[in-house]
Amino acid sequence: MEHRVAGVDLAALGADRKRAAPYHLGMTTATAREVTVPLLDLKAQYATIRAEIEPAVLAVMESQYFIGGPKIDDLEKEVAAYCHAKHAIGCANGSDAILLALQALDVGPGDEVILPTFTFFATAGSVHRLGARPVFVDIDPTTYNICPKSTEEAFGCCKKVKCLMPVHLFGQAADLDSIMAIAKARNLTVVEDCAQAIGTEDVHGRRVGSVGDIGTYSFFPSKNLGGFGDGGIMSTNSDVHAARMKRLRNHGMEPKYFHQEIGMNSRLDALQAAVLSIKLRHLDSWSNARQRNAAWYDEFFTAHGAADSSVPVDAGGLPLRFPKAPTAGRHIYNQYVIRVPARIRDAVRDELTKRKIGTEIYYPLCLHMQECFKFLGYQKGVFPHSERAALETIAMPIYGELTEAQRHWVAESVVETVKKLA
Ligand SMILES: Cc1ncc(COP(=O)(O)O)c(C=O)c1O
Repeated sequence: MEHRVAGVDLAALGADRKRAAPYHLGMTTATAREVTVPLLDLKAQYATIRAEIEPAVLAVMESQYFIGGPKIDDLEKEVAAYCHAKHAIGCANGSDAILLALQALDVGPGDEVILPTFTFFATAGSVHRLGARPVFVDIDPTTYNICPKSTEEAFGCCKKVKCLMPVHLFGQAADLDSIMAIAKARNLTVVEDCAQAIGTEDVHGRRVGSVGDIGTYSFFPSKNLGGFGDGGIMSTNSDVHAARMKRLRNHGMEPKYFHQEIGMNSRLDALQAAVLSIKLRHLDSWSNARQRNAAWYDEFFTAHGAADSSVPVDAGGLPLRFPKAPTAGRHIYNQYVIRVPARIRDAVRDELTKRKIGTEIYYPLCLHMQECFKFLGYQKGVFPHSERAALETIAMPIYGELTEAQRHWVAESVVETVKKLA
């Protein structure tokens, strides 16, 4: 296989080949063709599964069985098996999944929950909704996941920590060995926020969500397993936690109209379950295609002088960093996030928008800096890795249906733009 990009010999440059890159880099000219590339193209995905989805949705409509029932039971069994967990319990969305998990672990007023400050709002919002206090910690700048050292340091000022909540951000597993060791030493529970990481594996090949006490997932449409609307699910190996979450998602009711405790209405509906069961059959091939796209981008960027995210963006060479691929485990690339210097980040994004390339900033403001969490008293500068990531990162199109022309247009546009602006 010849590996040449715009006349550059990848082998000679010692490009990182830890992961297979089954796509040929192919194009040997310097100029890629302009094509529109949305950040995510769900229509392209739907076109490939329409014939399976439509009859399944119609069948639910014919049954008029919308809440609970066999479609939910089937999906819960399928997701539990997929996530290597004993149980899976559906709910209305990934935010409620976190809330229900914490409630099942008796987290409430006066308790503290440690979580990374560089994550989606829901991770912390769900803690606050229960009357507990989010305690933020910094991230590892290479993986963007919770930093175990920063987690240890948090105990210096917190005396009521009940739970640790690692987030497997962008589809890559957090350092579960370190987090579980901290939890064990201090007798804490662990909720894994797997909203972006269904099917992700850690360095030992363990599926995320099966290691801590409870795993929580989102079926928001942009996730690798996205529904046709909102949805979520919790995984656990504990019969006790499973029974409690089942009750809590249905007003704490058991048996009917008898309420053991105060829960809420957070159910997954049968239409979503029908769609998700079908999509689950395709999930591995979609996640594998994302991995292949990531490997291709990695090689392309390496060939043009970029390094991976283990190297600070100001350390020399082309000031462009691509996500460091794990040497073991499975990254499902819900997002492929590059880094450029903060001073050019927004200009790079504007230029890519002009070239009809969709991008997003996940996330432009860390949670400890959010207006709504001012009362927690965090100062700017306390979590330098997270604050820097918020200023330097850009998420690129990575979905499996990207065409070769689209990949080339994105990669060449990024390199050209960074060279021009740097
Ligand atoms: C890390 C993380 N946690 C929680 C959630 C919440 O999921 P949902 O949008 O389904 O409520 C999301 C969704 O984007 C997320 O990315």
